[in-house]
Amino acid sequence: MVVASTTTTTTTTTIRNEKEQAVGGVPVIDLSRKGPQVRELILKACEDYGFFKVINHGVPKDAIARIEEEGFHFFAKPASEKRKAGPANPFGYGCNSIGFNGDKGEVEYILLHTNPLSISQASKAISTDPTTFSCAVNDYIQAVRDLACEILDLIAEALRVPDRSVLSSLVRDVDSDSLFRLNHYPPPGTDYKDWSTSRHHHRHRIGFGEHTDPQILTVLRSNEVEGLQISLDDGVWVPIPPDPTSFCINVGDALQVLTNGRFRSVRHRAIANSCKPRLSIIYFGAPPLHAWISPLPEMVTPQRPPLYRPFTWADYKKATYSLRLGDTRLDLFRT
Ligand code: SIN
Ligand code: FE2
Repeated sequence: MVVASTTTTTTTTTIRNEKEQAVGGVPVIDLSRKGPQVRELILKACEDYGFFKVINHGVPKDAIARIEEEGFHFFAKPASEKRKAGPANPFGYGCNSIGFNGDKGEVEYILLHTNPLSISQASKAISTDPTTFSCAVNDYIQAVRDLACEILDLIAEALRVPDRSVLSSLVRDVDSDSLFRLNHYPPPGTDYKDWSTSRHHHRHRIGFGEHTDPQILTVLRSNEVEGLQISLDDGVWVPIPPDPTSFCINVGDALQVLTNGRFRSVRHRAIANSCKPRLSIIYFGAPPLHAWISPLPEMVTPQRPPLYRPFTWADYKKATYSLRLGDTRLDLFRT
C-alpha cells in the first residue's frame, strides 16, 4: 500500500511541477502505517526535500492545544509585560527584525532550552501561573521529542545503520542541546511599534528570513495561518499550506553532516502576510554540546569520501554564532 501522498495524488511527486507547487506538493507521511515502505518514503523525502509532513503522528491533541493557548495568552500581553521575560539571549522573550540579503523580518518569540530545570526557571518570568506553563511546555516537548526520535530511528533503519538509535540517542541524551521556540507573527498593520520600529505592508512581508536549521531534526507545528515556505535548488519558494493537525519535519545541518550530505538541510523562511496572527511551535532536536558530529561510517565509501571534518556541536555553534541567517554555515566544516 502506498503511504505517502501529496495533496493531489497518492504518491510522492516532484515539487517542480507548477500545479503541485501551488498546493504544496511535498511528501506527506502517514506514521500510523508501519513497515518498510514508511522508512523508504522518509528516506526519499529527506534526500529530495529535506522536508516532509507527518500525519497520524500520535502527539496528543490536548498537548498541542495547551501550548498553543499558553503561547497566544503570552503574546497578547502588553509589550512592557513581555519584555520582563527577556532578553532572549540566551533564553526568554525576544522580538527583532531578522534579515538576510535585504529581507527584513518581524517576529516575536520565546526561546527556551528543553531541559526541565531551565524551563521551570524561565516559566517564572513568562507566566503568572508558572506551573501550568511549564507543564504545558514539558508535556509538549516530551511528545514531540518522542516523535522526532521515532522518525530518527526509522531513518537509521532505512540507511541500514546497525545501531538504529545512533541518531535518536543524541537527541535523547540528558545533555542534549535541544531547543523549544514559540514564534508569533502579528498581522501586517498591527500597531506593534512598542516592540518594533519598522512596519512592512508589502506583499512579501518576511516574518523570518531564509535559513537552514543547524540542529539534527526540527518538528514544527503552526496554527491555521499560512507562512512557511521551503526552497529547493531552483530557488523557487514553495508555500507549505498550513495544517494544524500535522507536523512539518525539517532536516537540519547536523543531519546533513551525519548522512555525509545524502540528506539536505532544507532552506526555508516564514512569510507574515496573513491578516490573522500566526503562531508556530518549534522543537529543534540537537546533540549535546560535547558530542562529536561527523559522517556516520556507513555513509562513507571509497566513492563517497567524507564531505565534512569532525566537529563537536559546541564547535559548530561557536563557529557559526556570528554568521547571519542564510549564510552557508556548513561550508566552514567541509573537508
Ligand atoms: C523558523 O524556521 O525558524 C521559523 C519558521 C516558522 O516560524 O514557521
Ligand atoms: Fe527554521
